[in-house]
Amino acid sequence: MKPTRPFHQTPVIAIDGPTASGKGTVAALVAARLGFHLLDSGALYRLAALASVRYGIAPADHEALAALVSDLHITFREGCAQLDGVDVSSEIRAEEVGNRASAIAVHQDVRAALVARQRAFRKEPGLVADGRDMGTVIFPDAVLKVFLTASVEARAARRHKQLIQKGFSASMENLLRDLRDRDERDSNRAVAPLKPAADAKLLDTSSLSIDQAVEEVVGWYRER
Ligand code: CDP
Repeated sequence: MKPTRPFHQTPVIAIDGPTASGKGTVAALVAARLGFHLLDSGALYRLAALASVRYGIAPADHEALAALVSDLHITFREGCAQLDGVDVSSEIRAEEVGNRASAIAVHQDVRAALVARQRAFRKEPGLVADGRDMGTVIFPDAVLKVFLTASVEARAARRHKQLIQKGFSASMENLLRDLRDRDERDSNRAVAPLKPAADAKLLDTSSLSIDQAVEEVVGWYRER
């Protein structure tokens, strides 16, 4: 019989970084290469943001938001995110949902209400977790922590392409402004700010292809 490891030994690769740094794509491909599970923690914040719009809860009302988040009925199945049994995978990718996610993610009680849900993704044979605080708060014992960065221009260009491909309209000027605002808010919030863990490896993807970034991360994992 295959020996089972205690929960805390199931390997986690934490991939954190600012918006549109490519971490979502890199995390998904690394997980596929290694046969690991995937946690897109940003999708949880986006689902909470979408639910807050539906239930008419203001971004500043942290108590109502935390209660909402604790009760959220969400499922991830074959790459689809469901809210109350309805597929909202496309809807949560809209830029205004991302901006609202960032606005509600500043609250300590909202973040606390999402901790257990995120840790529950840690299953054999391993997990690749993508977000802002995977290496610092959620999985501080991750075997590999990567902090992906890219210039704000490279990130705006990527996000523009991604939104157009998904059928959303987008202007570079607005995207650059929103990206800067979001970086500012995510990096300067008091709780779980966006910053590399002390033991994270930095990877600047401005001039790397997705494949090169994936190779680098898989290489680091194998040689650790
Ligand atoms: O795709 P993008 O990088 O723009 O955003 P995302 O990863 O989908 O996350 C949306 C927002 O949720 C971010 O701007 C963060 O404010 C928040 N978030 C967070 O605070 N902590 C996480 N672990 C993941 C996302």
